[in-house]
Amino acid sequence: MEKLIKVFAPATVANVVCGFDVLGFAVNQPGDEVIMRVTHKPGITISKITGDNGRLPLDPYKNTVGVSVQHYLDSIGRTDIGLDIELHKKMPIGSGLGSSSASTVAGLFAAKTLLGDETDAVKLLPFAMKGEEMACGHGHADNVAPALLGGFVLIRSYEPLDIVKLPHPQGLYCAIVFPDVDVPTREARQIIRNKIFMKDAVTQWGNIAGLVSGLFMNDIDLIGRSMIDILVEPVRSMLIPDFYKMREMAMNSGAVSFGISGSGPSVFAFTRDEETARLITQKLQQHLTSIKIGSNIYVSEINDKGPKIL
Ligand code: HSE
Repeated sequence: MEKLIKVFAPATVANVVCGFDVLGFAVNQPGDEVIMRVTHKPGITISKITGDNGRLPLDPYKNTVGVSVQHYLDSIGRTDIGLDIELHKKMPIGSGLGSSSASTVAGLFAAKTLLGDETDAVKLLPFAMKGEEMACGHGHADNVAPALLGGFVLIRSYEPLDIVKLPHPQGLYCAIVFPDVDVPTREARQIIRNKIFMKDAVTQWGNIAGLVSGLFMNDIDLIGRSMIDILVEPVRSMLIPDFYKMREMAMNSGAVSFGISGSGPSVFAFTRDEETARLITQKLQQHLTSIKIGSNIYVSEINDKGPKIL
């Protein structure tokens, strides 16, 4: 058995605008890293966390990575083993980019690999969802599933869990801007309406079906015109500085679509090429600077691989 492993797991864009809690995709960067070692004493320890400004607990029972790895060990009956975790956060917390998911998926993938467990990675999903439940009060899978499996993922059903990997056009770029304001997922979920009108549901499921069809048909125009969210975005956009201004700027600069990444505050645009994605991130960053808001920007293609051993 290997004694030490270093794993990277990617950030993810959940919802993909119209698919609240059911669609997500992974990007190449940013992401988190976990270094895991086998120790002599049974149980999990977390010896180090970097890049979190002291926000995350070292107590393995309070840390999403510790909790999800423990659930995994319990499920395979390996409570005899000792694992030490170093978590290196390489992405902002509370950004809407699946920060907790990247960490838990890196931890679970590291544990599975160290233990030589050959079962399919999708089997780790319920444990990663436990981490999400702890992080924001709800075990949604639209960040953890693409972080774990890579690519574009549909959560067709939660009970029973039914995960479908979707194709996507090659050469589609994602421009991501994280405005440096705090939007905790737990709170961003609490402000959403619980009941919706049938006519709004019709609009929304038409758009979800349109987006999924566009992915299968390599039809970027269809993807773009389907990425409209009339249920969640009108509420959550209030938490994001100049959201509609940023949309206008992105669309005028050649974006295919624009919306909130996960629960925000990050926003993202799809583009047909890298140059347009870079232009959009620069323009939006300049705009945020002009209203005195710092930001991080990322440009990536869709990451089809998911976690990787470094
Ligand atoms: N689907 C989740 C939400 C994703 O929108 O609350 C959180 O990143």
